[in-house]
Amino acid sequence: MDTYSEEPATQHRATPIDTSAGALPRHVAIIMDGNGRWAIQHGMPRVLGHRQGVKALKPLVKECARLGIEVLTVYAFSTENWSRPAAEVNTLMSLLEEFLHQETPELKTEGVRIRTIGNISDLPEPAQNALAWARQETVNETRMVLNLALNYGGRDELVRAVNRWINDPSVPQTERKLDPGTLERYLDTAGLPDPDLLIRSSGELRLSNFLLWQLAYAEIYITDTLWPDFTAKEFSQALYTYQQRARRFGGLG
Ligand code: IPE
Ligand code: IPE
Ligand code: MG
Repeated sequence: MDTYSEEPATQHRATPIDTSAGALPRHVAIIMDGNGRWAIQHGMPRVLGHRQGVKALKPLVKECARLGIEVLTVYAFSTENWSRPAAEVNTLMSLLEEFLHQETPELKTEGVRIRTIGNISDLPEPAQNALAWARQETVNETRMVLNLALNYGGRDELVRAVNRWINDPSVPQTERKLDPGTLERYLDTAGLPDPDLLIRSSGELRLSNFLLWQLAYAEIYITDTLWPDFTAKEFSQALYTYQQRARRFGGLG
């Protein structure tokens, strides 16, 4: 599949990124895809690809913090991923707990606040507990937000948002007319800016139910690199590509 970057992968610019080359995104969203293919390529079981994939995340969070990117949202488990074999789902949940217990203290020292989107109440209890702990530990951090999309689906989020609004007793019956600004206040992402840049690893040209509302005007960067091989260096390439884009939002620029 094609790599939709303006420079070939072999010409990745080294970090640090040139901030004079254009505005950096406030919010970057990533579909971390390709762990299974990475494992197969290395003759390993899929679950080891997931383990390797988790390792790719921390350098990117640190890079975002360093660059002043306000929000990094990562798609870690979709509402559709429950259809995978139970052993793989269980491994993914265990890796989530392990990541939170191991990395939260260091992320906290970096000023990272951990939050989530998705239907967290349907995750296994140990995962919910680890998330509640990590959120609480980092609740006062303000340098950046690491937003974990877990049991997340864009359609599910929109339906839950509308239902929350319908059932909100503080909304007077006479005002029951939904507009975009009101809906946004009931989304899981309430309070966050929309993603400016969407990155998808491993070459698939689809959204896979990610942030269907919020990605309306995101710039898209798709790379063939499999997620465990996605480095801070390639991240800087994605940012550089973003800096070259002309965003028009339907206007004339
Ligand atoms: C992404 O990697 C991780 C999750 C979806 C949880 P995949 O597991 O989808 O890897 P591929 O797409 O099969 O290579
Ligand atoms: C998207 O990847 C979900 C995550 C990365 C968590 P998938 O591997 O589930 O997407 P499809 O099935 O290829 O569309
Ligand atoms: Mg996949």
